[in-house]
Formats: sequence, C-alpha cells, structure tokens
Amino acid sequence: MVQIDMASLGVTQIYKLLIGSIVPRPIALTSTIDSDGITNLAPFSFFSGVSSDPPCVMLAITRKPDGGKKDTLRNIEENREFVVNTVAHWMAGPMNQCSADYPPGESEFEKVGLTPLPSVKVRPPRVKESPIHMECELFKMVEIGDGCVGSSVIVVGRILMMHVHAAAYENGKIKLEAIDPVSRLSGISYGRTSGVYEIPRARTDQGGDFGV
Ligand SMILES: Cc1cc2nc3c(=O)[nH]c(=O)nc-3n(C[C@H](O)[C@H](O)[C@H](O)COP(=O)(O)O)c2cc1C
Repeated sequence: MVQIDMASLGVTQIYKLLIGSIVPRPIALTSTIDSDGITNLAPFSFFSGVSSDPPCVMLAITRKPDGGKKDTLRNIEENREFVVNTVAHWMAGPMNQCSADYPPGESEFEKVGLTPLPSVKVRPPRVKESPIHMECELFKMVEIGDGCVGSSVIVVGRILMMHVHAAAYENGKIKLEAIDPVSRLSGISYGRTSGVYEIPRARTDQGGDFGV
C-alpha cells in the first residue's frame, strides 16, 4: 500500500484523494431561494441519507476557492429551506451547468433551462426534470473546520414531502431503471448504474459460499 500522511498534504491534494476514493457519489441538485425570492440551483455530491426518524438527508457545502460562502449555504442560512432533486442521466448536462459560478441574483433555472415547479411545503421550487424531489427544512448545521478554503458546513435537512415520478414508483419502492441515476466519480467523470446484482441479507448461520 502507498501510505499517505494527511498532515503532509495540501487542501487540493486531499480533495483529489477524497473524490477519487469515495465513489460513486449520488448528486443532490439543490434548489434554494434568497430573501428577494431569487431561486438558486447547484449540485452537491457530498450528499447522503442520514436517518428515517426524523427523515433526514445531508449535504456538505465547502467554501468557494476565494473563501466566500456559496449561494446555497447563504440561502439556507437565511431561509432554512431547500429541495433536493435527484439527477437522472437525461439531465446531466444542465445539472453540470448549474455548477458554474453565477452571481447571486441570477437564477440557474433560467440559465440552464430547467423547469421550476412549485413546492408544497417549502418556498424553493422543485426541478420538474428530476425524477425525485425532497422538500426539506433545515434540521441542523455543523461547521467543519474554521471557515477557510477546504472547510465545509454539513447541512442536515428534514424531509417534509417527497415527490416521485409516477413511472418510478411502485408499491412504496423506487424503480432504479426509471430514475436512471447519475453518480459523480473523480475529476470530470460520471457514471450510470449498470451490472446490478443482488446479495441476500447475511445471516449468522451461513458462511463460506458467498454467492458472488
Ligand atoms: C457533480 C458536482 C458535484 C458537486 N458537489 C459539491 C459538493 O458536494 N460540495 C460543494 O460545496 N460543492 C460541490 N460542487 C460545486 C458546486 O456545485 C459549485 O460550487 C456551485 O457553483 C455552487 O453554487 P452556489 O454558489 O449557487 O451555491 C459540485 C459540482 C458538481 C458539478
């Protein structure tokens, strides 16, 4: 093994190691709104589910390269609401375009041609083209680091309402092929999900033949 002492690395080197090692990562295309009612949309792949009771998801929002706060973080701090929209293959291009550094006051919805749909319980709109929308209210923020470049804020949102494209929903379950999820890999690489296989849940009375 190559041994890497994290204390010997700079912020960029550490970031590259993380995004190459933690793969694949799902993408939360996150809509927020500022205090003037201007909408914002940005992708985040430091994203995960957290808990079922309360139903929570999390994003980690890093500082901009110039040390400033991203619009998404500022909007959530001000208005405490956001919508996580999942990303399907058919919308990978517009999703990526949302990550361009548009100034506050310019809505990515208009710039990239995604369609805002009103939410039911929160003010930020949903993304019509996304197969799944999670309307969230801020549950908790955790600052990681001292606010310099490389540090981040973990934003935990409580999901108040979910919307699933009808073709992707059956008996309370999500149909993978109908949501065609895009994942972020390292650098500018992305993946689709293929080669799916099943492993029955492990029991303590088996072992030896793992079936894979
Ligand atoms: C696929 C993808 C995943 C990203 N994941 C993150 C992330 O997890 N955290 C983060 O801070 N920025 C992430 N970014 C960068 C933000 O999307 C980018 O900084 C964006 O301009 C932030 O927009 P805002 O200032 O409107 O909030 C990602 C970009 C892409 C394309």
